[in-house]
Amino acid sequence: MAFRTLLSSDRGAVRTLTINRPDKLNALNRETISELQIAFAQARHDDAVRVVVLAGAGEKAFVAGADIAELAAMSPVEAQAFSRAGQRMMRDIEMLGKPVIARIQGFALGGGLEIAMSCHLRIGGEKARLGLPEITLGLLPGFGGTQRLLRLAGRAATLELCLLGQPVDAQRALQLGLLGRVVAAEQLDEEVAAVADQIAASAPHALAGILDAVLIGGECASAE
Ligand code: COA
Repeated sequence: MAFRTLLSSDRGAVRTLTINRPDKLNALNRETISELQIAFAQARHDDAVRVVVLAGAGEKAFVAGADIAELAAMSPVEAQAFSRAGQRMMRDIEMLGKPVIARIQGFALGGGLEIAMSCHLRIGGEKARLGLPEITLGLLPGFGGTQRLLRLAGRAATLELCLLGQPVDAQRALQLGLLGRVVAAEQLDEEVAAVADQIAASAPHALAGILDAVLIGGECASAE
């Protein structure tokens, strides 16, 4: 199926899905959330895919959050449905049964950090900035990010990021466990490819077993 807001490419057993709305800093609208759900379902059922890389198009942002313009036009009922659709999609990523790596350059804000936290590994460029700025818009993170951040970074850091809404830089994100690795921007693709290739060469059933062991009873139950 051809997507309007996503690019999909395969290199060996590594599938890269790129959110492709660079003029809107890859903000997540309804269509993108729906296409991501379909794309990850396809990756799940395709035995040739052993690892997925999730990326954002352009240099400036991984994903700058939920689409604020679309959000502003929603009724409360529509906003709740949007939030639930995002929660389901991110839980599907988390429970894919195959490792998912987020490739994070530039901004990963709001829903952008939430979707990154639903991935299993996060590799950032040195200019990455991560945060949950929803509070500055009178909102709260609605895609399960509060719970995922709590598990990743602990209560103090979660409260600081959520209550103040201020982004952190790549080094601080590394300290907090939001990023697993930080590399120079020009090395990001190489690093992501090396990690993806290493995973792709490992036994798929063992990888799936590790994901089950780590996730079941933990984050998988907390997305909603
Ligand atoms: N939703 C919809 N559009 C967004 C967006 C979002 N979350 N984030 C950025 N964009 C759009 C901007 O409206 C702008 O579009 P335009 O050129 O049609 O006006 C384009 O992306 C570029 O963004 P801009 O704000 O001009 O870039 P900047 O470098 O000045 O600032 C940010 C970058 C990330 C600091 C800023 O875009 C921002 O704060 N975005 C919102 C982040 C946020 O609050 N996310 C949580 C949402 S719940």
